[in-house]
Amino acid sequence: MSNLLVTGAAGFIGVNFVYYWLEKYPDDRVVGLDALTYAGNLASLTDAEDNPKFRFVHGDIRDQALIESLLKEEAIDTIVHFAAESHVDRSISGPDAFIDTNIIGTHTMLKAARAVWQNEGGSWQPHRFHHVSTDEVYGSLEREDPAFTETTPYAPSSPYSASKAASDHLVGAYHHTYGMEVSISNCSNNYGPYQFPEKLIPLVLINILYGKSLPIYGDGKNIRDWLYVDDHARGIDLIIKKGRIGETYNIGGHNEWQNIDIVHLICDMMDEHLAKNPVLKTKYPESPASKAEKARSLITYVKDRPGHDQRYAIDATKTTNELSYKPVETFESGISKTVQWYLDNESWWQAVMDGSYQQWMQQQYKDRQAS
Ligand code: NAD
Ligand code: DAU
Repeated sequence: MSNLLVTGAAGFIGVNFVYYWLEKYPDDRVVGLDALTYAGNLASLTDAEDNPKFRFVHGDIRDQALIESLLKEEAIDTIVHFAAESHVDRSISGPDAFIDTNIIGTHTMLKAARAVWQNEGGSWQPHRFHHVSTDEVYGSLEREDPAFTETTPYAPSSPYSASKAASDHLVGAYHHTYGMEVSISNCSNNYGPYQFPEKLIPLVLINILYGKSLPIYGDGKNIRDWLYVDDHARGIDLIIKKGRIGETYNIGGHNEWQNIDIVHLICDMMDEHLAKNPVLKTKYPESPASKAEKARSLITYVKDRPGHDQRYAIDATKTTNELSYKPVETFESGISKTVQWYLDNESWWQAVMDGSYQQWMQQQYKDRQAS
């Protein structure tokens, strides 16, 4: 039995991880910590809050006293650290929050964990600090380059990926210098329920419903490797349970797509959903399919993201060979579930798209279309 502290528990992957863990390990205690920034949504945890094994704490990872008291009070033996500023575009328009949360925040987590878990004299209580990172720390690939392995040198290009790279190095340093038992996972692009609609897949889905333009950065030929969010949770689970201490493991989907192809796919799926469901047509009269048009007509090429990484691809051979990791979801099944989830959960995404989000998005569109 374990007592987990999950940071960023009200964000996209944190929420999915909490549900995954509570179901798979019903005897474990899960404490979810989140500062509830624009990306965190307590409503996503409603079902978890009914579970007596779960406790939500509203707090900041930069609050060392809070983290120390939680670790002691809940006898936490495992930290799964998701909390971060996660959107590349926001890191370009405002990098400070990324430095504060991703670097200072991770370091505060490490300091608190060491203060509580390391005994006087240097020995350690049983513990694990798992740090959730990204494939973006490895930089950008050309089309023909081999995929990233765990030994690919770090070459982050955005303030977001640079801040994640810094946090990975700090986690590694606490292992090498102090003997903290850490592990790191570097994962590719996740998709699935509860993803904030500033990210490509939910943004496209929702814009189609409202007949709004679908902004494609640059030529739309940038490539990402997409993984269903529960398969990320499965990978982290295996690393925590079976992974070697101090090691990094890549998690990926062997599922590379050009952005424009993924947008075409979602357009066609949404057209089909609306075509066969008159209730949806009535609910979303501005959606192209409700007007006998095609969602693809909404595609608009806009100014590219500055420093836009061309391609990410993950070689997960180490994780597969050592931990028998294999994604369960195919892209077909994962994307179908995701589209259905957004169609069934309008109240969730309406609530997260509040005034400040709308303002930020409108400014983004203006900036990009001005070029
Ligand atoms: P997200 O932006 O949806 O969620 C981040 C959560 O962290 C939010 O709930 C937010 O409120 C919380 N948070 C932010 N600052 C905090 C602070 N100072 N203290 C406490 N909580 C704070 O992000 P996500 O997509 O769920 O990503 C989670 C983690 O996984 C991140 O570390 C990210 O780098 C990593 N990751 C994401 C992806 C992806 O495709 N989304 C892929 C690989 C790795
Ligand atoms: O690779 C893992 C990373 O994936 C995570 O570490 C990040 O937290 C996560 O946000 C994601 O980063 P990306 O920048 O790849 O995701 P995003 O959804 O923002 O964009 C995916 C691709 O689509 C990217 O090439 C930019 C492009 N894009 C994005 C948006 C929001 C568009 O063309 N138009 C858009 O409106």
